[in-house]
Amino acid sequence: MAPKKIIIDCDPGIDDALAITLAHGSPDLEIVGITTVGGNVNLAYTTGNALRLREFLGFPGVPVTAGSAGALLRVPVDAADVHGQYGLGEARLPEATLPPRDGHAADFIIETLRAAPGEITLVAIGPLTNVALALLKEPRIAEWAREFAILGGSYTRGNFSPAAEFNIAADPEAAAIAFGAGWTVTMLGLDVSRQALAVGKVVDRMRAMGRLGADLLVPCVEFYGMVTADEGPAIHDACTIAYLIDPSLVTLEPAVVQVETAGRFTSGMTVTDFDLAGRVPNAMVGTSLNVSRFWDLVLSVYEDVARRID
Ligand code: RIB
Ligand code: CA
Repeated sequence: MAPKKIIIDCDPGIDDALAITLAHGSPDLEIVGITTVGGNVNLAYTTGNALRLREFLGFPGVPVTAGSAGALLRVPVDAADVHGQYGLGEARLPEATLPPRDGHAADFIIETLRAAPGEITLVAIGPLTNVALALLKEPRIAEWAREFAILGGSYTRGNFSPAAEFNIAADPEAAAIAFGAGWTVTMLGLDVSRQALAVGKVVDRMRAMGRLGADLLVPCVEFYGMVTADEGPAIHDACTIAYLIDPSLVTLEPAVVQVETAGRFTSGMTVTDFDLAGRVPNAMVGTSLNVSRFWDLVLSVYEDVARRID
């Protein structure tokens, strides 16, 4: 079967980098474009990291287009304390030699989806500002996208605040536009991604992956969180890419999701109602992850990538 075509909108970011590595390495996906947004770190760094990853991993022909530096209406926030000043933890990839594509990410998303209606999946693993701008400019992308899948939100507890997950909390207005666009959002939130822990045996396998392990995976993961036999950092964004490779990894349930934009303590909360009460769902929400099969997939793809770049 032909690989699934995807656009990845991202804010690399440690787990974004692991997600991009997984997407690049999988024969079941074809990255047709990467767009960047300010989020974990500022737009200059998220874009620079995407450019470095493109050359380090070896897909120089895939366009990288920068987008929004910050939220639609709010003061930008970042997670540099979590991802490091430059966004990839202790990893220091070689400088990129190729520039980003001219233009804005939102226009790249619109034109790419317009040219291939029904063929391309839009994946967002950062704040949804670029997606919202694309929807505002051309609402029909909600029809043209084969699927819209995100890493974002939570129907239990947040990580940016007790109520809100970072990608949504960084731009709640953008997320409200995305969830209200008429498509059905595939929402993989913290409820799923917090199960994807890079524990000791996972990192041990990464250490055996040559340059990929030494220069990217291990310095990223070890910065991202404490690694012990039973604990480790959750590589959130990779869950959404793994789902696109193998949807059977994730259990999805229909829901009506509304994004809180006004709450003093709950801004950015994805208020998730699984009781449809006759309403049409606007989201399919991830409720569980097959963890062992997730790591089998991720690590085997990483080993393939490692062989290619050594
Ligand atoms: O809450 C996790 C999400 O926020 C991930 O996308 C991570 O990269 C950060 O952007
Ligand atoms: Ca991210």
